[in-house]
Amino acid sequence: MVRTVTGPQLAALIGDRSETGGPAYARVAAAIRRLVLDGRLPLETRLPGERDLAAALGVSRTTVTAAYDELRGGGYAVSRRGSGTRTALPPSRTNGSAGGAGPAWMPWTADGSDLLDLAHAAPEAPAQVRRAYDAALEQLPRHLPGSGYHLFGLPELRAAVADRLTARGLPTLPEQVLVTSGAQHAFTLVLQLVTGPGDRVLVEQPTYPNALDAIGRHGATAVPVALTDDGWDLAAVAAAVGQTAPRMAYLMPDFHNPTGLLATEAERRDLGAVLTRSRTLTVVDETLVELALDGPVPPPLATYLPDDLTVTVGSASKTLWGGLRVGWARASTALIRRLAAVRACVDMGSAVVEQLATAELLGGLDATLPARRAELRTHRDALVAALAERLPTWRARVPAGGLVLWCDLGGPVSSRLVVAAERHGIRLAAGPRFGVDGAFERRLRLPYTHPPDVLGPAVDALEQAFRTVTADGGAAAEPIDAVA
Ligand SMILES: Cc1ncc(COP(=O)(O)O)c(C=O)c1O
Repeated sequence: MVRTVTGPQLAALIGDRSETGGPAYARVAAAIRRLVLDGRLPLETRLPGERDLAAALGVSRTTVTAAYDELRGGGYAVSRRGSGTRTALPPSRTNGSAGGAGPAWMPWTADGSDLLDLAHAAPEAPAQVRRAYDAALEQLPRHLPGSGYHLFGLPELRAAVADRLTARGLPTLPEQVLVTSGAQHAFTLVLQLVTGPGDRVLVEQPTYPNALDAIGRHGATAVPVALTDDGWDLAAVAAAVGQTAPRMAYLMPDFHNPTGLLATEAERRDLGAVLTRSRTLTVVDETLVELALDGPVPPPLATYLPDDLTVTVGSASKTLWGGLRVGWARASTALIRRLAAVRACVDMGSAVVEQLATAELLGGLDATLPARRAELRTHRDALVAALAERLPTWRARVPAGGLVLWCDLGGPVSSRLVVAAERHGIRLAAGPRFGVDGAFERRLRLPYTHPPDVLGPAVDALEQAFRTVTADGGAAAEPIDAVA
C-alpha cells in the first residue's frame, strides 16, 4: 500500500517555518527534510502535488517546485514517472541502498555513514565475545549431526538464561525460556500473540521508539502514562488501567530507556499490585538490567506479578553485543509454548553458533560485567562533565545505570538540533521519537557508549550546533512542529 500525505496534512506537520532563515522554498525543503529525518514522515511516502501543497501552505507553486527540487537534489525525495514524488534518504544514510525502509534513525544508516552516531545506544563488543565465538566453533561439531533447528532455543542457552534469571531472584526453569533474535523480537511475538487491531497497550511516556512502532504496526494503540522526573506515577498507572482496560502493558523498570530511571522496590510492589488486580498481561523489558553502574538493582518486576500474565524479555545486545542478535522471553511454560507457536510462523529458531557463544558468555557474565560497567561509568561521567562545561544550560539526571542521558535542552529545539548537528558531523535521535504524540521536543537522548576522547569533541560539535539553533532565541521559542 502506498502511503500518502495530503497538502493540508503536510502543512500541519510542517507547522511554523518562520524559525529558519533563507528563501521560502529552502524553509519548506528544510522542514520536510526534518520530518523525514525524524521519522515523522515515513520513507516512501508520496508527497502531495505541488499545487495542493502550495495552496495548503499559502505559498506560490514555484516555491514548492523549488523545494521539491532541493529535496530531490539532497536525496530526500525521489520522483518517478506516474508515481509522483516520494520521500527518501540519501544513499549515505541508507548504507548504499536508496530508499531504506524505516525511521531515519534506524541502525542500518549507522555503518558506512561519515557521521558520528549518537542516535543509537549500543556499546562495542568486549574482548570476551571474540573468545566466546572461538569456544562456540569448538563445540559446533557436537551439533552438526543434528538438524540445527531449535524452535525454543538451544538447551544450553535456555539453561544459562534460566540460571541468570534465577540468580537475580526470579526462579526460572529452562522450559520457561524462549530464545529469540533479540528483545524486540520477543516483544513483537507477544504483540502478535495477544493484540489485535484496536487493542490498547499501556506504555511509559517516554518509551522505547521501536516498541511504539511495533505496537502501531500491529494495529494497536499505545496508551501513554507519563513518568515523573523521579519515577513511576502509580496513581496515573492505576487510572490508565482502569479507564482504558489495556490488553497489555509494556514496562522498563530497569534503567528505563530513555530516562535511565530505576524503579524502587516499593514502586515495583505497587506496579505489581495494580497490574495483578486488573489481570493485565505485562511485558517487562529487562534489556538494560545488567548495566547497573551505581548500586544494586531491586528484585525483578516479574516477582511481583502473576507468572501466567507476565513475560520478561531480555537481551544479550547491551550487556554483551548487539551483533549476537540473541534475546529471550521468560514466562510460564504454557505461555512460552504459545509464543513459540507464533514464532514458528516467522522463523524456526536462532543460529546455533550465536546461541553457543551467548551461552558461553552468560556463564562468564560475572567476570565480564565489572570491566564493562567500569568503562560505562567512565564514559557516563565524561559525558556529564563535558556537558556541564560546554552546555551548562542543559539539564540531565545522572542515571544509575543503562546507556543514556535524557537531556532537557531548555527549549523546544530537539528536531532542529538534530538537523543542525548533522552539519557538524553528529547523528542524533530527536526527543519526539520517544513520545507517543510527538512530545519531548525539549529533550534529547545522548548515549555514553563512546569513549571520552570521542564524546569530548562530540559535545564541542553539539555546542556549536546548539548555538546555531538558539541564535534566534530558539531555546525559549514556541514549539516548532505541530504534529497532526
Ligand atoms: C529497552 C530496549 N528494549 C529492546 C531493545 C532491543 O534490543 P534487541 O537488540 O535485543 O532487540 C533495546 C535496544 O536498544 C532497548 O533499549
